[in-house]
Amino acid sequence: MIPGRYEPVTRTPLIIDCDPGVDDAIALLLAFASPDQLEILAITTVAGNVDADLTARNARIIRQIAGREDVPVFVGARAPLVRPPIIASHFHGESGLGTLPVFEPGAPTAAGDAAQAIIDIVMSRPAGAVSMAVTGPMTNLALALRQEPALAAHLGPVVVMGGARSEGGNITASAEYNIYADPHAAEVVFRSGVKTVVLGLDATHQLRATPARVAAIAALDTPAARAATQLLDFAVQIEKTLVGGDSPPQHDPSTILYLLAPRLFTAVPVDLQVETESALTMGHTAVEFRLADPAAATCRWVTTVDHEAVFALMLEILAR
Ligand code: BDR
Ligand code: CA
Repeated sequence: MIPGRYEPVTRTPLIIDCDPGVDDAIALLLAFASPDQLEILAITTVAGNVDADLTARNARIIRQIAGREDVPVFVGARAPLVRPPIIASHFHGESGLGTLPVFEPGAPTAAGDAAQAIIDIVMSRPAGAVSMAVTGPMTNLALALRQEPALAAHLGPVVVMGGARSEGGNITASAEYNIYADPHAAEVVFRSGVKTVVLGLDATHQLRATPARVAAIAALDTPAARAATQLLDFAVQIEKTLVGGDSPPQHDPSTILYLLAPRLFTAVPVDLQVETESALTMGHTAVEFRLADPAAATCRWVTTVDHEAVFALMLEILAR
């Protein structure tokens, strides 16, 4: 990395809350390979794409591939706050990691629960110091906010992959998977006063792993690039068979890439509310741009992505 080429110039203390998941795994590879920019304090996992035992194991597999066993992995919620679990193994494979060979990782999970770990880590640092990236259902953060009323004012920015406005849904006609899987948790987070930057499908559908981009990553000779290539090859097959098209969107990596280079994204103040009542539109994100006082908004919604520059950055990171 050329100093000063990408902001931020200081290291961001970060908790990554995730449900790996093929694209969560790519996000983790990018984060682990960016130690000069991101101080990863913990990975917290949650039931989502696959069950809670598998998401925790998968996070440890990626941690081991990256050689980052120094980062603790805390197991989190086994089910959403209210609704029954909705897994997405049709998109991520039975293991959650597509066709990446899975194994029992050498290092165990950390003692203690994910929500408590979020509280302990955030509250032990100065107010606003710790950021989060959330790439799964938001159950762990909602539980933490409920358990520690002071957390909302103490937590730094939370970069979320979730929701959809202009693009419609990807799990139902009107909802994106992460919000649909635990809409009640999402509503707790968005109403808490925590500052959020939200990368919904409107943003992540601009960030696609085209055949040329996958080939460029495959040409890199690093452990991270080799794992990313296997994950992307699986995502391409799923895109072809279940969605149509050959360029899968890079949902969860967008959170890490935003943290590394926010200037490559446009984020505008909004009010974001989550539908938690209607069976038809459950998990829909109502994103309102027409604000009486935009400066008071706690949520920013990403509208555009400089996808060429973002992929150039992704390539640079995976080459490390
Ligand atoms: C989100 O849903 C999950 O299946 C992916 O990992 C991503 O977090 C995209 O809608
Ligand atoms: Ca995910």
